[in-house]
Amino acid sequence: LKKITIAIDGFSSTGKSTVAKQLAKHLGYIYVDTGAMYRAVTLFAMQQGFIDKDHFNVDKLIAALDNITISFKFNETAGFAEVYLNGVNIEKEIRTLEVSQFVSQVAAVSEVRSQLVKQQQQMGKDKGVVMDGRDIGTVVFPDAELKLFMIASADKRAQRRFDELINRGDKVSFEEVLKNVEDRDYVDSHREDSPLRKADDAIEIDNSDLDLESQFKKVLELVNTKF
Ligand code: C5P
Repeated sequence: LKKITIAIDGFSSTGKSTVAKQLAKHLGYIYVDTGAMYRAVTLFAMQQGFIDKDHFNVDKLIAALDNITISFKFNETAGFAEVYLNGVNIEKEIRTLEVSQFVSQVAAVSEVRSQLVKQQQQMGKDKGVVMDGRDIGTVVFPDAELKLFMIASADKRAQRRFDELINRGDKVSFEEVLKNVEDRDYVDSHREDSPLRKADDAIEIDNSDLDLESQFKKVLELVNTKF
């Protein structure tokens, strides 16, 4: 059976990774969470003191980019690949609201993007990959056989992210989560390098009122038209 490339883009917390994981499992494909890679670079910048509430030393981060190795390792129990920064599993640390509050600034830096995009293209070079992010269908794999663009109302998205954070035991308010979702969407779609936008040939999926099962059914129908 031929293998294809599936690109999933969209705004924050639209359920991209949920669909991507379901699809990868179903098709026996590799799943790559590119947001995790930008989050890993952000965590690195925080650990090194290059970024905090009051400042962001872009030059220092750029100079240190060669010291960052990001890798993925499949976790049998979790059922997906977890992200590692210089050999350390950081899957949990990168999901905090604090990382979410800095990540869009880091992701706007061209030097960061070109390095990560190169690695993403390498990971998907043999196809058989489901990759989610903001620029997969437009920049990373403009020739992907299937491109999905996910949308949902800001309220629904913030509610999902809020539930996730609360379930992990994080102390956050709904208002700050909503503000973060809106801020990131704004910065991500207004940056100069690879702004978030729907590729012309992407299919839009609004899941504000779709349950997981019906959404997956719909996506699977789209996938099946490609074989
Ligand atoms: O997907 P996730 O919400 O984890 O992504 C975190 C952030 O990483 C996004 O808000 C965006 O700033 C950045 N990102 C990006 N390009 C990608 C994936 C993520 O700029 N392909």
